[in-house]
Amino acid sequence: MAGITISSLSKSYGGRHLRLTAVQDLDLAIQDNQFITLLGPSGCGKTTTLRLIAGYVTPDTGSIHVGDRLVSAPSGVVPPERRGMGMVFQNYAVWPHKTVYENIAFGLKLRKLSSTQVRDKVEGALDLVNLKGLAERFPNELSGGQQQRVALARSLVVEPDILLLDEPLSNLDAKLREKMRGELKQLQRRTGITFIYVTHDQAEALALSDQIAVMHAGRLQQFGSPFDVYTTPANRVVADFMGLVNLVPGRIRSISGDMAQIEADGGLVLVAPRPPEMALGMEIEIAIRPENIRLSATPETFAGVVSERTFLGNLCEYVVVIAGGRALRVQTHPLQQFSIGQNVGITIDPSQCSLFAREPDAVASAA
Ligand SMILES: Nc1ncnc2c1ncn2[C@@H]1O[C@H](COP(=O)(O)OP(=O)(O)O)[C@@H](O)[C@H]1O
Ligand SMILES: [Mg+2]
Repeated sequence: MAGITISSLSKSYGGRHLRLTAVQDLDLAIQDNQFITLLGPSGCGKTTTLRLIAGYVTPDTGSIHVGDRLVSAPSGVVPPERRGMGMVFQNYAVWPHKTVYENIAFGLKLRKLSSTQVRDKVEGALDLVNLKGLAERFPNELSGGQQQRVALARSLVVEPDILLLDEPLSNLDAKLREKMRGELKQLQRRTGITFIYVTHDQAEALALSDQIAVMHAGRLQQFGSPFDVYTTPANRVVADFMGLVNLVPGRIRSISGDMAQIEADGGLVLVAPRPPEMALGMEIEIAIRPENIRLSATPETFAGVVSERTFLGNLCEYVVVIAGGRALRVQTHPLQQFSIGQNVGITIDPSQCSLFAREPDAVASAA
């Protein structure tokens, strides 16, 4: 009913001479009833994309369709209030001099509803966000999490098909953020509304989303499930952004079927799945997640020396120096302890590694 199709969407800002491209050639097909996250570092174009979808910004090129309906094109946009979308902002934007009830009911004012209908809808929305019993409070009598729930209820009360959320949890403390995360996910499941959620927090994106759109410098880098984006990043930008990763330069020494033998810095030799575009002799980077390296107190094919250790409660993080002075970050179970200066054996699971072609300038600087 409310799938969104974004085609060749671009938007730049600035004057005639200095233009800054906020979103470039964005193609995205968002299915109905999904939790979608736009993820990327600050300034990568997430908010601009959300504002384009909401109808606050007119694109320079491209189009946005909701179902079959064209809602945005350079020639004009359907205004925000006629798109069947709601929006929730980072700073809540609740009215301080209105009660919770009045804040939520405000969105219904423009619709010709009886007072009984308004009360039913507001109570339904309060129930959805677990704010029952607080209707007569003022915002300054609520916690940050409760204020954010009021903002959510206010955008849900008008029964949108699509809810747009711009970093809605970033003003909350860590514990509350995690609790609200769970509630948002449940809310999406219960209502069937398509959620488009913006965040720079990769853990949040992994926890919440059906699909993640990873953005960088105004461009879409990858669109996929949390599992795919984390385990099979499309390029080094995605690998680097989605958690910790060791990026080790190397080259392809031989190829056999789908597998490639790689010789990488630090004396690492690995046989890993080969992306189809990788050819013999190619300069590459191998991406190895810290949790896919095992350490042992006994000698293995590769060896190193522990140079740093950080106990993080649920895991231990090490820096291990291998041949040529190259440092690898490694994560182990917290009970598996090694001491600084200890010689350790290293085992890398090559099936969990990703290979990327090295950019020519990176090749030059590594040489
Ligand atoms: N109204 C605007 N006028 C000029 N530049 C803007 C405007 N909105 C965003 N930008 C620029 O566009 C780029 C993308 O911004 P934004 O979409 O807000 O990124 P994000 O939400 O990912 O942090 C940034 O460089 C930002 O400075
Ligand atoms: Mg933003």
